[in-house]
Amino acid sequence: MKAIQVKAPASLDTLTLVDLPDPGQPAPGQIRVRLRASSLNYHDFAVVTGMIPAADGRIPMSDGAGEVVAVGEGVSEFAIGDLVVSTFFPEWLDGTPPLTAFTGVPGDGIDGYAREEVVAAATSFTHVPHGYSAAEAATLTCAGLTAWRALVVDGQLKAGSTVLIQGTGGVSIFALQFAKAMGARVIATSSSDEKLARLKAMGADELINYKDNPAWGAAALGLTGGKGVDHVVEIGGSGTLDQSMIATRIGGHIALIGVLAGFAGPVTTAILMARQLRVQGLTVGSRQQQLDMIDAINVNGIRPVIDRHFPLADLADAFRHQASGSHFGKIVVDI
Ligand SMILES: NC(=O)c1ccc[n+]([C@@H]2O[C@H](COP(=O)([O-])OP(=O)(O)OC[C@H]3O[C@@H](n4cnc5c(N)ncnc54)[C@H](OP(=O)(O)O)[C@@H]3O)[C@@H](O)[C@H]2O)c1
Repeated sequence: MKAIQVKAPASLDTLTLVDLPDPGQPAPGQIRVRLRASSLNYHDFAVVTGMIPAADGRIPMSDGAGEVVAVGEGVSEFAIGDLVVSTFFPEWLDGTPPLTAFTGVPGDGIDGYAREEVVAAATSFTHVPHGYSAAEAATLTCAGLTAWRALVVDGQLKAGSTVLIQGTGGVSIFALQFAKAMGARVIATSSSDEKLARLKAMGADELINYKDNPAWGAAALGLTGGKGVDHVVEIGGSGTLDQSMIATRIGGHIALIGVLAGFAGPVTTAILMARQLRVQGLTVGSRQQQLDMIDAINVNGIRPVIDRHFPLADLADAFRHQASGSHFGKIVVDI
């Protein structure tokens, strides 16, 4: 089978298309999946460029979707022909997060889904939403579930609440879709007026260009009549957290998700205290949370926004496109 491997020293130029042995037949409790699509996340970019050290020869990509081609003994959840999508933490089925960190995460601690075939525990996958293609399903594992958990699980989002989203990447676009489906008001930011127009067309209620308006936190506060937003989907990290805190109401919730504006840096902790904010760090979610998200997608008919498709062999070009920041929503590789 064809696969992509990260070769040392990791870089986009050393991503290599290889032929690997057939993965064999599933043991009891396992399924074999013919993967058809994966999608790009910043986490995958960090693995393939060496920001996150990975074993020489690691198969990257945390997200994978495709059809079941063989079912091991004792598996009743899936049948041959079912379309399935991977889970980010194969060992985190439900409840509180286990302590395994990234050691069991496909495309990081173990081999991921930049390949044609995989044999894995059946619990490493779920069914896809009704009517989804493999490419659509492959957007859910990391970005979709992160947005879902931020707003619905950790945020306990209610109709009528106000949500602030930052930029137009995979997580933020899903957050917009989930927030609107749940009856929330959305204040959306982007560095591009053209992208802001697309956010508006998707239902965003208020728009701020964060490049033109570095004090976008105060602008968002103003848009709420000085009360502040209830939730922020914080994908920037240290470089955006001060503005997010300025935008948030007393006792509000900031889902601390990303690092696009810095892994570390000075933060005005006094605002955190004075506003009595809840800043909740999170890393994707459990299999049960993915099942709940898919139930919600089935009821609300949400479809992911796919910016562009690349063939698996052009994975490096797909990452170059991601690094350009010109995308809107998710970038997919077809396998
Ligand atoms: N904790 C978790 O579980 C988890 C899960 C998924 C992702 N993440 C993290 O969340 C972040 C976003 O991931 P993603 O996959 O959605 O990334 P992505 O698709 O690559 O998002 C890129 C977009 O983010 C926006 N952006 C970049 N810098 C920004 C800034 N300083 N302020 C506001 N927006 C900015 C830009 O939007 P515009 O072009 O519109 O300006 C850019 O196009 C990454 O740091 C990723 O590692 C964390």
